[in-house]
Amino acid sequence: MNQDQLKQAVAQAAIDYILPHLEQRSIIGVGTGSTANFFIDLLAKHKYDFAGAVASSEATAERLKKHGITVHNLNNVQELEFYIDGADECNKHLELIKGGGAALTREKIVAAVAKTFICIADESKKVDFLGGFPLPVEVIPMARSYVAREIVKLGGDPVYRTGVTTDNGNVILDIHNMQITDPRGLEDKINALVGVVCNGLFAHRPADILLLGTKAGVETLVRNAH
Ligand code: 5RP
Repeated sequence: MNQDQLKQAVAQAAIDYILPHLEQRSIIGVGTGSTANFFIDLLAKHKYDFAGAVASSEATAERLKKHGITVHNLNNVQELEFYIDGADECNKHLELIKGGGAALTREKIVAAVAKTFICIADESKKVDFLGGFPLPVEVIPMARSYVAREIVKLGGDPVYRTGVTTDNGNVILDIHNMQITDPRGLEDKINALVGVVCNGLFAHRPADILLLGTKAGVETLVRNAH
């Protein structure tokens, strides 16, 4: 199986997981990226079984709408049963690095609202320590250089992601060369820098379930399960 086939398999596993729980009034959160796109394409077949979705990016909203899936404004939604999204890295605690697609802030907002966050990822994303993938940080444009200098003080090498403006009109700094031993602590420290909108560490709100695509099949990891 190649990486795309693994992504397709976990997307299907997520559909199989949520379908029995969906009701006509259910609204789900949908993430951003190639794995999430496989999920959206498979979800289309079931569009009459639920009330619609909240999108974590403009790109995802467009794709959902193309399939005829209703896209809701999060402010008008009382409850999200599920949030389904990919990740750039995940550890055994289901803490994640996200934001490779620059959608981290909206992703974190939708994940915060959802009752159950299902992360779908191929096995290349599972790591012992987060930080091999450069950690994305969304920054207000005028604060870019200041935040970069502060990140250096935290021990990272920030790199400006050129040519990228987020859906919120901001820029991205990717932090290289940080082995993250305290994901929650680092998430807090970066968020405390003035000018930072959000960072791609999902440690305070990790995934609840990880569907991991491996060559031997889809593994299901549940947070806090022993
Ligand atoms: C976008 C994200 C994605 O979930 C992450 O980049 C993984 O993407 P892909 O499924 O294409 O590997 O966080 O901001």
